[in-house]
Formats: sequence, C-alpha cells, structure tokens
Amino acid sequence: MDKPLKLGLLGFGTVGTGVYRILQRNRSIISARAGADFEVSKILVRDLDKPRAVEVDRSLLTTDPREILDDPEIGIVVELIGGLDPAYQYIQEALSRGKHVVTANKAVIATYGARLISLAAENGADLYYEGAVGGGIPIIKPLRESLVGNRIEEIMGIVNGTTNYILTRMTQEKADFADVLGEAQALGYAEADPAADVEGYDAAHKLVILASLAFQKPIAIHQVYREGITKISREDIAFAEHFGCTIKLLAIGKRHPQGIEVRVHPTFIPNRHPLASVHDVFNAIYVRGDAVGELMFYGRGAGDLPTGSAVIADIVDVLRNCKQGTHHRVETLWQDAPVLSMEDVRTRYYIRLHAVDKPGVLAQVAASFGAEGVSIESMIQQGRGEDEPVPIVFITHEVEERRLRASLARIATLPAVKDIANVIRVEGGGR
Ligand code: NAP
Ligand code: HSE
Repeated sequence: MDKPLKLGLLGFGTVGTGVYRILQRNRSIISARAGADFEVSKILVRDLDKPRAVEVDRSLLTTDPREILDDPEIGIVVELIGGLDPAYQYIQEALSRGKHVVTANKAVIATYGARLISLAAENGADLYYEGAVGGGIPIIKPLRESLVGNRIEEIMGIVNGTTNYILTRMTQEKADFADVLGEAQALGYAEADPAADVEGYDAAHKLVILASLAFQKPIAIHQVYREGITKISREDIAFAEHFGCTIKLLAIGKRHPQGIEVRVHPTFIPNRHPLASVHDVFNAIYVRGDAVGELMFYGRGAGDLPTGSAVIADIVDVLRNCKQGTHHRVETLWQDAPVLSMEDVRTRYYIRLHAVDKPGVLAQVAASFGAEGVSIESMIQQGRGEDEPVPIVFITHEVEERRLRASLARIATLPAVKDIANVIRVEGGGR
C-alpha cells in the first residue's frame, strides 16, 4: 500500500474550509477517482484561536509557513490565502522546491502567471488554478484542453459573484448598495478588501486569465480597461428597465484583425440576452470558437463549496499526475497580438445627463453628438422643471469610444447641461 500523499493548505477561510469539508465528505470517492490516497498534513492560518466553519484537529493548524514550505514530505501546496503577498512568495517557494501548487488566487495568477508557469516548468512541478475564475464553474480546463482545436473569437461573462449579487438585489428588491455588499461579505463571496469586487479589479484579474488562455497571449493587468459598479444608481437601473435591459458587470475579450479588446465595466444587456438571467452569486461565461460555435458555462461563481469543488478537481489532477509520474502540460502563450486602446473599441452607449428644460437645449446636445459622428438610437426626457435640471437619457448606435468621449466633452461645456451623471456601455445587439 502506497503512503498517502501529503497536502499543505495555506489559508483556512471560506475556500480553505470549503475544500476541507469536501475532502471530509467525499474522501473515499476522491481517493478512488484520483487513484491515490492523500491526507491534509498541515494548515497555515493567521490566528490559531479563530472559530472555524469546520471541525479540525487543532494540531494540524500552524501560523508558521515553514512547517509546510520546508517539509519535504508535503508534495502539494494548496494556496488559499488571497492577495499578492505573501501568497505569491509562498507559491514561488513551493514551486522552486518542486512542490505542486493548486491555487484559487486570481490576483497572483493574473499578475505573475507567466513567471509562475515558467518556474513550475523549470522545477518539474504542476500549477493549477481552476478555482481562480468562475468559482465552481469548470472554465480553465475547457480553455486549456477541451477547446484547443478552436480559434477563440470572443469570451464574455459575468465573472464576479459579489457584484452580480449586489446588482441583482438592487434590481429586484430596490435594495441599497451598502446593505447588499454587507450581505455578500457575510456569505463569504467578497474579497478581503471588497473594493476588489465593486471596483472591478477581481473581474479584471479573471479576464486577464481567461483572455490569456483564449487568445494565447500573455495579457497584463494594466492592459485591461476597468470600471466598477459604484456609480450605478437606482435611476440607471430604472432606465435600464425602461429600455428592456439589465445592468451587469461584464468582462469582455474579443479578437479583431487589428488586435485584442479586453474590458470590464457595467453593461446594459437586453433582457432576452442569456447573461441577463444570470442572477445572485451565479456567474456565466460565454465563449465563441470558430469550430465549436457558441458555448455557455454557468454556475456558482463564489462560495466555500462551489470554489472548493474546483480546487478539489485540481488536487485530483495533481494526484493523478503524481501517481503516473507525469506533469501537466504547460500553457504556451505565443501570439503577439496588440491589445487595443479603449478609445478604439466600438460599442453602443447609454448616457444620462441633467439639463435645464428650455427650448433649443436638446438641439444643442444633438448637434454635439452629431459633430463627432455619434448617432442616437433612442432618447427619453423625464419631467418638466422650470429652472430645475431634468434627466435626459440617450442610447447611441455603435460608435468608437474616441468619438463618444469627444462628443461628451462638447456636451459638458454647454451652459444648459448641469452634469453628465453616467455613461454605461450597451452590448448584445439592438433591442
Ligand atoms: P478568506 O476567507 O479571507 O481566508 C483567507 C485565509 O488565509 C484565512 O484562513 C486566513 O487566516 C489566512 N491568511 C490570510 N493572510 C495570511 C497570512 N499572511 N499568513 C497566513 N495565513 C493567512 O479568503 P477566501 O475567501 O477563502 O479566499 C481565498 C482565496 O480564494 C483568494 O485568493 C480568493 O480570491 C479566492 N477565491 C475566493 C472565493 C470565495 O468565494 N471566497 C471564490 C474563488 C476564489 P485566519 O483564518 O487565521 O484569518
Ligand atoms: N470575490 C469573488 C467574487 C470570489 O465575488 O466573485 C470568487 O472569485
């Protein structure tokens, strides 16, 4: 009988305890499927006395990372701490020592992925990160393996559970942003610093990972255009409903002959679009390949057990590799396609502004759009205020972002226009 392979867990929070619970619950099935026995031999935490969501033998817990990183018997390190430091440093150390690493850390993979992939290859170690994108949804493996025969043209999705939960509650129950963010935190969906979720950084990290795999190009985080959901107001949600749309935070990657487009921002999508019915913590990732056509991956995008499910799948891959004495095939990111500037991106726009309701004002606004080649598809003016500014909302036809920005700069200088309250991109074809 072979000795059980030893795992060290770095981190025992939402995902760490989720992984542990699945290992307890399904241990015999997992061992049988992996073809190898295993055991968790050490767990790194910050605070030994913190109450844990699962029962665990206290002797397994440590606050000393050396007890895992320096232990030659621990061959598999599962990093579930989050953030760049010290997580990156621990992953680097583990790989340098030939230990296999499984992580759900999108910040580390998006920032240092290419370096870590090389380090893993140099040291004959595996590096897996299915839990880093889409929680429990299998999406990394399909992109790495199942879809290799395709030229991926587009990848677009809801990849942050916290913001989707917040936008769903704000839309369906007219709830307040701050209250719902608190709920998402209590449910274990949010990052340690929830700004990572609501400002779109988490989704941008995930898009880097998805787009790098889909387009075979190492994309840097600074190349992703990013906007979060903090500016979305109840008015925007109400106008979206008026136009038969829903607001979602989308991560969008598209291949064009002139380069790759990568952007994360709140988006109006028509209610009939498949992504419009993805609610709460659910994520969905739409992929279009030249051979397979359209695919949609859907499931819980955050939470202990769903993310734990993805982490366990990676652990099983490593166990199988260990058993067979093989290593995972390392990604080759070889294409040198430029990333397009946001100014070159073409899409449609929703614009909400406030202007004094006087004769000629609409004509001035329309002329400013027209001067930059921006064509209006729909318009609403609400209410009639004598001297009070009233909301005016436009939806444009598709236009380059450069032109849209130039037209808004003109409009902002009109004396009758009090403010441009919000601009939200519109995807998913005409209404
Ligand atoms: P979490 O609940 O905050 O847990 C983090 C764990 O790491 C805690 O056990 C904490 O110890 C430990 N830790 C933090 N800093 C440490 C340090 N410097 N030294 C030693 N231990 C440290 O985080 P999480 O939600 O499980 O997320 C973990 C990772 O999974 C992150 O990369 C996150 O982005 C990713 N992820 C999370 C989800 C989700 O739904 N939450 C989904 C997908 C991916 P204490 O418990 O003692 O404080
Ligand atoms: N904070 C992340 C989210 C966790 O809400 O999607 C899953 O990656």
